Amino acid sequence: MAVAVTMASQNGAKSLAAPTAGNAGAALSAYGARAGLPVFIAMPQDTPKSIVDECRSYGAEVELVAGLITDAGKRVQQYIAANGGFDLSTLKEPYRVEGKKIMGYELLEDLGRLPDVILYPTGGGTGLIGMWKAFSEMQRLGWIGSERPRMYSVQSSGCAPIVRAFEQQLDRAPEWENAQTSAWGLRVPRAIGDRLMLRALRESNGGAVAVDERSIEKAASEVRKHEGIDAGPEAGAAFLALRRLIEKGEIGENEIVVLFNTGGNKYHS
Ligand SMILES: Cc1ncc(COP(=O)(O)O)c(C=O)c1O
Repeated sequence: MAVAVTMASQNGAKSLAAPTAGNAGAALSAYGARAGLPVFIAMPQDTPKSIVDECRSYGAEVELVAGLITDAGKRVQQYIAANGGFDLSTLKEPYRVEGKKIMGYELLEDLGRLPDVILYPTGGGTGLIGMWKAFSEMQRLGWIGSERPRMYSVQSSGCAPIVRAFEQQLDRAPEWENAQTSAWGLRVPRAIGDRLMLRALRESNGGAVAVDERSIEKAASEVRKHEGIDAGPEAGAAFLALRRLIEKGEIGENEIVVLFNTGGNKYHS
């Protein structure tokens, strides 16, 4: 979001707006404040209160919407039509994805190579798409060769549009009806970047895994207790996916696997 807000500001935006499932809104609020630009955010009314408070603490105008991020998206369009403002919705401008490329750079920096497998808790998909873009640019820069991690999208059984589309060999992911998951970062029933995500999963020889919604919190708690990191439900989902893929023999014993913990537990209240 830092890159996106900086570019919007440099290109003359006078105010910023976006729908969010949570985290992106908090980041936008913070960077908007830093850039001195007013921020409008719409989010589902049951987004954790800590996130709502965090956005407001940075001075953002937050509106809670009945429904999901797709409904929040409609509200943002109305708001912009009436009040103006630059639209920072996922993949509606080019720079959020540029910022997410850093996850790809950091993998190489930290490991000295790319991992064999990436398990990414997927909502709108900017993370997956950004890393995939980073890898091909890193190859053009001569930093890596043609090797790629196998990329897996992880979703919850309560909202798994990308997994379903992957399994049905579709190019686009139809909207998931009645999306429900405690992993609020993953509660994205329709993703504008569906085509790009599905292509990256297939080109990487990876896949997509929907984990049992009822097991997510217990798995996140296991990660916290064993690893001492603030694992949110999304990390719990990634951990369940790891177990499943090992059981199925899709991940081997000696492979380097990276699980993304996209949101901390302390925000989950
Ligand atoms: C906690 C959390 N996890 C995962 C995601 C999904 O990230 P992406 O949009 O890169 O799929 C989000 C996005 O809002 C999030 O807030």
